[in-house]
Amino acid sequence: MAHLIDGKQLSDQVLQEVASEVELLKGEHDIVPTLAVVLVGEDPASQVYVRNKVKRATEAGMGSIEHRLDAETSQATLSELIDHLNSDPKVHGILVQLPLPSHFNEDMVIASIHPAKDVDGFHPLNVGALASGQPSLVPCTPQGCMIMLHQVHPDLSGKNVVVVGRSNIVGKPMAALLLQANCTVTIAHSRTKNIESLCRNADIVVAAVGRAEFINADWIKPGATVIDVGINAIDLDGKRKLVGDVDFESVARVAGAITPVPGGVGPMTIACLLLNTTRAARRQLA
Ligand code: GUN
Repeated sequence: MAHLIDGKQLSDQVLQEVASEVELLKGEHDIVPTLAVVLVGEDPASQVYVRNKVKRATEAGMGSIEHRLDAETSQATLSELIDHLNSDPKVHGILVQLPLPSHFNEDMVIASIHPAKDVDGFHPLNVGALASGQPSLVPCTPQGCMIMLHQVHPDLSGKNVVVVGRSNIVGKPMAALLLQANCTVTIAHSRTKNIESLCRNADIVVAAVGRAEFINADWIKPGATVIDVGINAIDLDGKRKLVGDVDFESVARVAGAITPVPGGVGPMTIACLLLNTTRAARRQLA
């Protein structure tokens, strides 16, 4: 069986570092690093994510502000709120939970967040900084995946990695971070030909497609490391169950190391969000 990369345990380590940094910022600079989370609409999964983010922030001794807007809120109203948060010196990080209802222009919303408070790392300036090899605030999920990968591969140099999925939130920034770590990176997606054989050649596969148990053991080279970013709710015998993009049972028999779902990448994402918030707060001191 593959070695299990324990996201819960690793995220606790990161959260301890965050809590220490929060204490330093409080004691030495009299500031409470504060995260503002904005949720528009009633999407049940987004509600769970936002609740967890706020809960963990509080546990780490940070401030958190939650803004819930109804699904019919206009782009102008959301813009006003973001302007207000941008100029509030007590707010160090701003996260607008995605996806937004379809009448919003998501790109415009993201670009309206002050880059120094963009703890998601989605602002074009932060995306460009990462792409050009000068990362500033880096997207949380890929950052969490890198911490997990470093547990198994202290030196990632020269590894062949296939990232399955090309989203702005995970796939693209993941590829940029891996490239920065001197990996040879392939991004595979729905139009990729021979995706199975590409994956089977990889030392590391990062699955971020949003399709339940899409990747099975036939895709994986024996001994390879598998990072599963997916969180998909499926019905199993009438019960709701969370599964990843990887068919865990079969892949765990072939892989050398694998992240579970739940308890893998998910907790790391939140820990990295809080890490980004303390980093943002410290930079705003200057
Ligand atoms: N929706 C799914 N993942 C994310 C994320 O990392 N940040 C935000 N803002 N929304 C998301």
